[in-house]
Amino acid sequence: RSHRIAVIPGDGIGQEVIEAGKKVLSALAEKSGDLRFEFVDFDWSSQRHLEKGEYIPAGGLDELSRFDAIYFGAVGSQDVPDHISLWELRLAICQGFDQYANVRPARVLPGVNSRLKGAEDIDWIIVRENSEGEYSGNGGRVHQGFPDEVGTEVSVFTRKGVERIHRFAFQLAQSRPRKQLTLVTKSNAQRYGMVLWDEVFFEVAKDYPDVSIDRELVDAVTTRMVLKPETMDVIVATNLHADILSDLAAALSGSLGIAPTANLNPAGTFPSMFEPIHGSAFDIAGKGIANPVGSFWTAAMMLEHLGESTVAERLMAAIERLTASGLQTKDLGGTATTRDVTQAICADIERQ
Ligand code: NAI
Ligand code: MG
Repeated sequence: RSHRIAVIPGDGIGQEVIEAGKKVLSALAEKSGDLRFEFVDFDWSSQRHLEKGEYIPAGGLDELSRFDAIYFGAVGSQDVPDHISLWELRLAICQGFDQYANVRPARVLPGVNSRLKGAEDIDWIIVRENSEGEYSGNGGRVHQGFPDEVGTEVSVFTRKGVERIHRFAFQLAQSRPRKQLTLVTKSNAQRYGMVLWDEVFFEVAKDYPDVSIDRELVDAVTTRMVLKPETMDVIVATNLHADILSDLAAALSGSLGIAPTANLNPAGTFPSMFEPIHGSAFDIAGKGIANPVGSFWTAAMMLEHLGESTVAERLMAAIERLTASGLQTKDLGGTATTRDVTQAICADIERQ
């Protein structure tokens, strides 16, 4: 089996953790014998934007569309405004390839200390609508720079867009032991798009009678995540809400450096993209101390998507032995470097 993977390390620690993740994938391939990865590196980054005026070259998305999957680091630089880097690279790919389902598991890995009491009960998957909503890019500014300036940021929710993410979330919930799905919106204060979300959710729910459902307002759900983590399983929320909730989930389960993300194009028309949840981390970039575990877990999600379930399970088991061993980077309270952690997991994979 051979898989063609487009690799976009991007900026800051994205480069460090993706390099580490490629080493782990190569170790898995070597170990299994009949598995191959063909990595093609793309230098699409803020550096490239500063030099050439663009993140993605002409025809770039076409080229990318021919890969089996995309392994992405992070984008964001102190020399480029964030709304430019995000839209011109990451969102250009997510929206260009209709990766409408963003999937973010959260779980406390063995040996990882969460400051939250009861954190061992966290076993969630947050499903984030990834193609519209608050990040539709719909808005504008008038009277720019004047005292009466107005900026609008208009969320767009389409019935089709809402229905497909709910269906995706129901199917995912159905595949899990607890079969439970929590709907998150803010349909008391926001009367249109959010009410559409709620209505479509309950329509779709009729097709999945074996999934138990409940609903929360986005403010209230943050307290439930902290105070009663064991009561939640799969959570479906809008682009902005799930963005925030998944950072909270990552922090509650130990560190932003551990959590993975899949940006899925469920129809399979375009490749899906896999990335750690964190950004380019200016404060630690270039120091060799970034936690690469998020990038490893991301690789496991990518393997699962490529149909390599057994290899994905082998990788998850190796990640759990690694975190359980106590060899941890600074964000988890340890002193190990990115390289120490990567070497340890590769050696473990070779030994198994
Ligand atoms: P960030 O995730 O880069 O960092 C937040 C904090 O978590 C920092 O203290 C950082 O050191 C720590 N951290 C993150 N990942 C870590 C890891 N693997 N190991 C150890 N510590 C880790 O978020 P921040 O600082 O808000 O954003 C920095 C830049 O990254 C911005 O330009 C932002 O736009 C961009 N960004 C990009 C994302 C993406 O490409 N998907 C996601 C989030 C932010
Ligand atoms: Mg975020």
